[in-house]
Amino acid sequence: MQEQFALGSFPNVRMRRLRLSPQIRRLVAEVELAPSHLVLPLFVRPGRAVRQPIASMPGHFQISPELAAEEACEAERLGLGGVLLFGIPESKDPMGSAALRESGIIPQAIRACKEAASNLLVITDLCFCEYTSHGHCGVLGSLKEPERTAVDNDATLTQLGYQAVVHARAGADMIAPSGMMDGMVGAIRHALDTAGFAYVPIMSYAAKYASALYGPFRQAAECAPQFGDRRGYQMDPQASAAQALREVALDLGEGADIIMVKPALFYLDIIRLVRDHFPGVPLAAYNVSGEYSMLKAATQLGWLDEKSVALEALCSIRRAGANILITYWAKEVAHWLS
Ligand code: PBG
Ligand code: ZN
Repeated sequence: MQEQFALGSFPNVRMRRLRLSPQIRRLVAEVELAPSHLVLPLFVRPGRAVRQPIASMPGHFQISPELAAEEACEAERLGLGGVLLFGIPESKDPMGSAALRESGIIPQAIRACKEAASNLLVITDLCFCEYTSHGHCGVLGSLKEPERTAVDNDATLTQLGYQAVVHARAGADMIAPSGMMDGMVGAIRHALDTAGFAYVPIMSYAAKYASALYGPFRQAAECAPQFGDRRGYQMDPQASAAQALREVALDLGEGADIIMVKPALFYLDIIRLVRDHFPGVPLAAYNVSGEYSMLKAATQLGWLDEKSVALEALCSIRRAGANILITYWAKEVAHWLS
C-alpha cells in the first residue's frame, strides 16, 4: 500500500483522468455484475393459476408450480444463474411431514421448472420452518424449555437427509440447507451419497445470522415461529466475526461446495472476511427480503431511484467478495444490464 502511494502525487497524478468518460471508467472497472451471478428466489404453493401478491415484497408473489415454470423459463432466457425454490405446503404438522412427500410442493415445482427450462439451475432451500405447525426449522426438542431447546438438532439432521433425497429424486440441481443445525451439511452429504446423488452439490447457509431482516420473507413463506425465536440456532449478530469463519470451516469440512453469508448488506464485513480466509471457495451472499423491502419502499415513495440503488447495493456485495448473489431483483437487474 505504502509503495503505491509513493507512485506519485498531485499535480503529476490526477485521479480524475480515469473517471472522465464512461468508456474509460468501463475500461478500468473491476467489480462486475452479470446475470449469471444472480439467483432468483421463488415462493411456490399448491394449486393452479395462483399468483398471490406478497404485501411486504412488492413485485413478488406466491405462485403455483406451472407459473413457477414460466418464471424458470424467463430466468433461463435472461441468463440468470438459477432459481431458488421455497415451498408453502398444503398442510403443516409438528414434524413438517409435508416436506418429505415425493408429491409435495417442492418436488412438483422442481419437475415443472426442469421440464420448462432444462438448462436452468434449480436450487432448493432445505429447511423445515415452512412445513412445521410451530414454524421452527426442525423437530422440536424438550417442550419444558422451549426457548433453550426449541429444536432437537440431531433428530432434525435425520429429517434433513430425507428431505434432501426427496429434492434430489425430483431433479434438484443443488441443495441449499438454511436451518443452521450443527452437522447438517455432513448429514445431507451422507444421505445424498447413499441415495446415489454424490454429484448434487450443497450450497450451505454457513454463516446465517438471527436477523430482523427476514420479516418480509416470513410473511412470503408463511414460516414465522409461533413461539420464541431462532436465536438458539442462527448466529448472534454480536458474536465475534471470527465465529463466522468457524462456521464456514466446519461446513467445508463436512463437504459444502458453496458457502453462504446471510444477510448481505449489514454483513459485508463478514463476506470480506470469509472471502479473504477461504480463497477459491465459491461464496454466495443472500440479499435478503428486508434489504429488498426497505429499499423498495423508499423507491416507491420516490425517495430513491430503484435501478441505481439496487445496482449499487448488489455491486457492493460483489465488491465485498461474493461470487453469487441471491436477490429478489435478479430479473430486473438482468433487464437493466442488457
Ligand atoms: C428459512 C429461511 C429464511 C430465509 C431463507 N430461508 C428465514 C428465516 O430463517 O427465518 C430468509 C430469506 C429472506 O429474508 O429473504 N430457514
Ligand atoms: Zn428454517
